[in-house]
Parts: sequence; C-alpha cells; structure tokens
Amino acid sequence: MSVLVLDSGVGGLTVLREVRAVMPTEQIVYVGDDGGFPYGQWPEDALVERLVGLFTHYLNKHDIKLAIVACNTASTLIMPSLRSAFDVPFVGTVPAIKPAAERTDSGMISVLATPGTINRRYTQSLIDEHANDIDVNLVASTQLAKLAEHYMQHREIDSDALWQEIKPCFIDWAGKRTDIVVLGCTHYPFLVNEMRKLAPWPVDWIDPSEAIALRALSVMEQTYPPNGQVSTESPPTDLAYLTSDAANPAAQRLLQGFGLTLRPHGQVALRSIS
Ligand code: DGL
Repeated sequence: MSVLVLDSGVGGLTVLREVRAVMPTEQIVYVGDDGGFPYGQWPEDALVERLVGLFTHYLNKHDIKLAIVACNTASTLIMPSLRSAFDVPFVGTVPAIKPAAERTDSGMISVLATPGTINRRYTQSLIDEHANDIDVNLVASTQLAKLAEHYMQHREIDSDALWQEIKPCFIDWAGKRTDIVVLGCTHYPFLVNEMRKLAPWPVDWIDPSEAIALRALSVMEQTYPPNGQVSTESPPTDLAYLTSDAANPAAQRLLQGFGLTLRPHGQVALRSIS
C-alpha cells in the first residue's frame, strides 16, 4: 500500500520531502496536475469536478492507504467532497492562520496565497475562529505559484516580479509592523530564501509542510496502529505522474531529482477549466 500526495504541480514536493522524513518506509505516489495548473483561478465547481476525477483515477490505479492533498487551493474547497466520496483517510493543507495568530507579537500577520485560497469561505472561517482579535492581511497572488514553478524547474527568478507579489504583505502602521507571513500555498516555501532577501524587515515565514507531515503520520497511526515490528524491507521506489505527460521535460527532470520514478499519466477524461 502507498501514500498518495497530490498538488497542481511541483509545489507538493515541499510536503513530500517532510512526509518522507516522518514515514521513511512508505512508498509515495506523487501526482502533479500540471495539466490543470494553476488551480488559483479555477471556478470552484469545475475544480471540484477535476479533483474528484483525478482522485477516482489514482485511487483505482494504486492501493492507497492515505491521501494527502498537498495544495491549499484544493484543500480549502474539497475536503468534505473527498471524504464523502472515498473510503481512504485524507489529510489536507490549509493556511497556518492558527499558529500565526498564537505566535505574533505585533498582532499583524499576512496570509499570502492564491486568489482561490484567499477568497474561500473556509479561509474566512479559520480567521473567525482563531484570529479574530488580530489584524489579518489577506494577500492574493496570481503570479507567485508560476514564479515558483519556473524557479524550481529552471533555477531563475525575476526578483522585481517576486517583490511585486510579496510587497503587499508588509504593513507598517501606527508604530506596528507585520511580523509573520503565512505561506498559504505549497509552492511558496521553495521561494522563501529569495523572499527573505527582498523583505524590508525580518518576518517569520510560516511553512506548514512539517506540520502536515506530522498530521499525516498521526492519521496513519490511528488508521493502521503500529504492530511494534520494525520492517527491514526497503519500500518500493516512489512514483510520480504529471498530468501533462511529456509536455514538461523540466518538471520531469525535477521529479526525477527528488528520487521519483516517472510513470505515464495517459489518457484520462478530466474536467478542464473552460
Ligand atoms: N500549490 C497550490 C496551493 O497550495 C496551488 C498553486 C496553484 O495551482 O495555483 O495552493
């Protein structure tokens, strides 16, 4: 049995590397839906349809014991639909607003995410529940996930474009400044060192990848309680699928660099954006 990790592109690799650290003996199947990238501006009903189609395909294809939606744009929308449609346990990724609200000294935090995540009712409910006594500045970025994809695949960054995307996160008002930026998209941790260089003052950048991996481990242990025996067998090779298939050689090389063996996604009827 394997652990499925899914994102719209290579962003979910930030979660995959932490999952590997906490579940070293599990085989991982990574699905990068680069054929649907970016998810940030999809209409909600079309995105739900595409994701249910993708999970239906991959849960039938592999024997999956746990599925991780390594994407905020998807998780803030689709977790109830997935849990009612499929029997496997699901773990989602949502903006780390609660830990940011607990940690802030200035009482001013920014949440940097895709327009989809920023506009979701779920994100607003996180603020109402955990951060109603602090200032939460929501910053919707249309370009950052694309900049991260490009950076990871080609090792190039347009610093001016990056600055334009992160600039609204920094608020200096009435003697107080933003002190935490929540990275509300799994692509963004790949850019955090570049973001640090551009920041006008130091802030805490919250990357939730490790917390997601630990949550996944806890759900795994509840669902399949450990029997006390340590397996000496090495797990089968980790696999990856890109829904664009051959259309994206740089992404393919990147996945191989993460130790994933690429398999063809093939012809699968999926909802498209138009
Ligand atoms: N990595 C995704 C997220 O966490 C989304 C990027 C996109 O497809 O726009 O939100």
